[in-house]
Amino acid sequence: MDEVRVAIVGMGIGRANARGFLKTPRARIVALCDIAEERMHRLAKELEIPEPLTLYTDYREMCRDREIDAVFVGTPNQLHVPVALEAVKHDKHVLVTKPLADAVGPARELVAAAEAAGVVNMMSLSTRFSRETQIVGDMVAKGEFGEVYYGRARSVRRSGIPSWSPGFVQKGGGAFRDMGVHALDAAWWMMGMPRPVSATAVAGAKFGPRGLGFWDFKPQPELGNQYAADDYAGGFIRFANGAGLQVESFWASHHPEDFQIEIFGTEAGARCFNPLTIYRTVAGTPVDSAFTIAKDWEGVWVTIATHFVESILDGTECQAPLRHGLIVQEMMEAVLESAELGREVEIGSD
Ligand SMILES: NC(=O)c1ccc[n+]([C@@H]2O[C@H](COP(=O)([O-])OP(=O)(O)OC[C@H]3O[C@@H](n4cnc5c(N)ncnc54)[C@H](O)[C@@H]3O)[C@@H](O)[C@H]2O)c1
Repeated sequence: MDEVRVAIVGMGIGRANARGFLKTPRARIVALCDIAEERMHRLAKELEIPEPLTLYTDYREMCRDREIDAVFVGTPNQLHVPVALEAVKHDKHVLVTKPLADAVGPARELVAAAEAAGVVNMMSLSTRFSRETQIVGDMVAKGEFGEVYYGRARSVRRSGIPSWSPGFVQKGGGAFRDMGVHALDAAWWMMGMPRPVSATAVAGAKFGPRGLGFWDFKPQPELGNQYAADDYAGGFIRFANGAGLQVESFWASHHPEDFQIEIFGTEAGARCFNPLTIYRTVAGTPVDSAFTIAKDWEGVWVTIATHFVESILDGTECQAPLRHGLIVQEMMEAVLESAELGREVEIGSD
């Protein structure tokens, strides 16, 4: 096998991932799948995806296509596991957008099936693979932060509830599984992926059910009526190594926009974004190093696609297996469950 024949499912975030594959040598997009046919035609034309290209409206039929080696899953959260499970059943490698699933049970089922099938299984994580996160993660792994004992991660929007797909506001959607997952995953990864043991949190929906807080400040009473998810959550996760992580996600708030991750180590600290800054004490003097990193929105998708292809063709160890997505899902669901129960909950004990 000297190339990977890829199918893209879901034409929303599928667009960014498809652009990544188009710029990746040894990857070829051979199929698109979406229930909205016109979205496939538009994407194929816009990205000038070369023929032959097969369009499917049924992912089950697509998974039976022997000309496909790997599937990118970019459907709404509630459909990640059904699509990926079907792909894995047909021995296809899978790349799944975040979050892995809409609940812990299906996430576990998918990870078990993918690992048993022996296919490459990877999360498509644009924050974990961003340059800032990779730089800090690399420095932590080399010991430059000493012991990492605390983290803070947040995604705050002023009026940013996604309004283009009802999947976001239905059960299994919500702010924490949409944006909290990016902040949580990247912080946990930079901290060295310690084993989570418990979470305590608050969460709720203060804007969405009122038809407020939607994208571009446009009221959406019809989405407000079907609102069944959180629009904010804030919690604290405790790890087996004694470290702690404070994590927050607001889809809407009366606060400025903010996406930030902060890492506290015994030898250095970091603020990851705008700009990436490393804090140290050198010769008794506090020294702050700020890095200007060129914004490269497209580059991260090429990084993800390239790593997926190299994991398949070269046997490179996958740096973001679905198992990582499962642990993040366990933390997310514990945060939301803790908020519902009004008490701390254990993670990974069942
Ligand atoms: N940075 C990121 O990694 C990032 C960014 C945005 C969205 N996402 C994730 O991508 C997913 C989709 O979000 P979006 O914003 O692209 O939504 P979207 O609504 O724009 O796209 C989802 C697409 O899936 C299609 N779809 C629905 N059911 C289907 C089915 N049964 N078979 C095939 N296609 C089906 C829809 O028609 C739609 O075109 C979410 O899980 C979200 O969390 C990730």
